[in-house]
Amino acid sequence: MSNKCVTTSVLMKMKQDGQTITMLTAYDFTFASLLDEAGVDVLLVGDSLGMVVQGHDTTIPVTLHEMIYHGRCVVRAAKRAMVVVDLPFPHGQLGVRQTLRVAARVMKETGCTAIKLEGGAEQAETIHALVAAGIPVIAHVGLRPQSVHALGGYRVQRDGQRIAADALAAESSGAFCVLMECVPADIAADITRQLKIPTIGIGAGPHCDGQVLVTHDLLGLTVGRVPKFVRQFADLADAVRQSVSRYNESVRDGTFPDERESFQ
Ligand code: KIV
Repeated sequence: MSNKCVTTSVLMKMKQDGQTITMLTAYDFTFASLLDEAGVDVLLVGDSLGMVVQGHDTTIPVTLHEMIYHGRCVVRAAKRAMVVVDLPFPHGQLGVRQTLRVAARVMKETGCTAIKLEGGAEQAETIHALVAAGIPVIAHVGLRPQSVHALGGYRVQRDGQRIAADALAAESSGAFCVLMECVPADIAADITRQLKIPTIGIGAGPHCDGQVLVTHDLLGLTVGRVPKFVRQFADLADAVRQSVSRYNESVRDGTFPDERESFQ
């Protein structure tokens, strides 16, 4: 990818040209700056921040105010990447008028380019209204974490017909991208072939038009269980533990701060 800013049409062109899209979660200015510099195409201010940043078991407790706060931190950092903000539970599920009001507020107050909402076929009318109002939408299908209790847990979604119907409905309602979570690779590949808009997968195999992970997972910073579909590209948790132990020792044995680190 060149240096120009990533827009919805850039992502569409990437699909047409067979260029794979990279998306990662970002919740704060520092990480967002690093990911943007490293050339990630899309920064997702995911409501996974409820688990990663806040320590909840699900994404359900995350508030609209919190999403807007984190969205603003990330938007300030992004120079090239597109920033997408999740609509938190239940704001994406409250019908056309309410969802439109909230999505417009998220865009206005964060400065993000697009929003993501969970659901496909049942969200068709809402997606259509958002797009008509100038709000680019990513539809999140397959495992929808905000419906974890209704789905009976975080498990692979195997109803290919339903997932395809959701993805196709999202596309025909005007969504510019479909995110598929925990979907068998062959189903995701089939849907990716059927859609003109790009698909981004998480636990959806290698044949999507792009991939997304929770940044803390890929960097080895996760506290607790790491899902099967994650590859850890670093062990930053260990680097943090070791650096902090060295800091503790240096403070306790009086070798930090030294003369160079002090004002005379
Ligand atoms: O909330 C989030 O971070 C997400 C990703 C896991 C895709 O939806």
